[in-house]
Amino acid sequence: MTTAREVFEKQYVSRTRKSRQMYEEARHYLAGGVPGGARYRRPYPLYVKEAKGSKFWDVDGNEYIDILCGAGAAILGHSPASVMDTVRQQLDRGTIIQVTGEFVIELAKKITQHMAGMELIRFVSSGSEGVHIALRAARAYTGREKYAKFEGCYHGQLDNELVSGAVFAGPGDNPEPVLGCAGIPKSILNDTIILPWNNADASVALIRKHAKELAAVIIEPVGGIYLGGMPAERAFVEALRKVTEQEGIVLIFDEVITGFRLGLSGSYSILGVIPDLRVLGKVIGGGFPIGAYGGRKDIMEKVVTPPGPAEAKDIALRRQKIFSSGTFSGNPVSVAAGVATLRELEKPGFYERIDGYGERIRSGLRKMAMDIGLQIQVVGLRSLFSVHFSNHPVRNIRDILNSDRETAGAFYMGLVANGVYVPEHHVAFTCGAHNDADIGKILEVSEKVFREIKRHQA
Ligand SMILES: Cc1ncc(COP(=O)(O)O)c(C=O)c1O
Repeated sequence: MTTAREVFEKQYVSRTRKSRQMYEEARHYLAGGVPGGARYRRPYPLYVKEAKGSKFWDVDGNEYIDILCGAGAAILGHSPASVMDTVRQQLDRGTIIQVTGEFVIELAKKITQHMAGMELIRFVSSGSEGVHIALRAARAYTGREKYAKFEGCYHGQLDNELVSGAVFAGPGDNPEPVLGCAGIPKSILNDTIILPWNNADASVALIRKHAKELAAVIIEPVGGIYLGGMPAERAFVEALRKVTEQEGIVLIFDEVITGFRLGLSGSYSILGVIPDLRVLGKVIGGGFPIGAYGGRKDIMEKVVTPPGPAEAKDIALRRQKIFSSGTFSGNPVSVAAGVATLRELEKPGFYERIDGYGERIRSGLRKMAMDIGLQIQVVGLRSLFSVHFSNHPVRNIRDILNSDRETAGAFYMGLVANGVYVPEHHVAFTCGAHNDADIGKILEVSEKVFREIKRHQA
């Protein structure tokens, strides 16, 4: 008997002949035929011709409503006119000048004005870099070497941070660190403490136990890539704020997804907690590569701001400073696009609209699954959502990985085979270019896919 996944895969294959041909060619030059692992999918990836607004078109001419939205970066949809106009102007004025321009100051100003506690910032080229350098800043500031992260949180693709993301081990309230992939030195595990997500008592106890060695505690205020838009509870984050303050540990919020997605103030709008440092990325680049880190002025001035002329001879002071600079840090095109994007987000009603679409999708999916007789859990808030097949609530990465991943995989395949694009098991987004018709179509396709899954379960 065929499975629902096989039915969807057959549909996918029958409408993506050119993608298959391109894959056959591409895989001779690109590992797996893709520039980054997340773009791969079974049985072969899609190849795209063009994207505009809420949609893109593959090389076979199929139209997709995009609910990946540049992994959250394309908050206005693809190539929004106002951002493209600004980018075009910047393209004629230089793309890699290596001397600070006006847009970079304006973007920094907007970020510091909107986000509580972002007193000083620095730009980098990606979210991964932002996390990595923020942790370096925390180490330099505290003189300690270890850091703690939460099981299920994703903090980018670099060695130190790729631990216990979509893998777990040990007791739920005292997780053991697990390397995220091959090629990462095991020695990294000696410097990494893994904490249980949304478990305040156990996390606080572990932080206190390791306090003297901990430079930083880092958390995604809403678990994104792996946790599917799962919010950290307010009391839990308040407990983290309190213990880190008492123990002199730098609290870092990784807001690469949530920054300017949950509103202009990021996670502050749901948690009301101000971290010591924050990491940003995605949305602030307006569709171009970017990352940023920043926060408390005393931390940034002590370890990042270069020594002034009077201080330059002070060797002890110079040794407190971190290295933080890259060829493309604050590149003129990304920051111009970022400023133009934030100007759109500042317009009244923007977030209400994308959050409203998110809520319509979440509640629509729940109702349809219930009517059809499928046991699903819809995770997410505001403009984020994900679907898990489980008969009990999913509260952490263990619940997610122990849910019915095979059926969830079939669901995501079904969406793509029917013109709604998101990678398997990936958090999905709504964006400013979505409209009522798109949301209607997303729900219509989801219902069709749910019914096919149910038919195969019977
Ligand atoms: C929370 C979080 N932190 C860091 C990163 C890494 O950002 P980048 O892919 O720009 O390196 C991501 C990427 O998805 C992310 O979701």
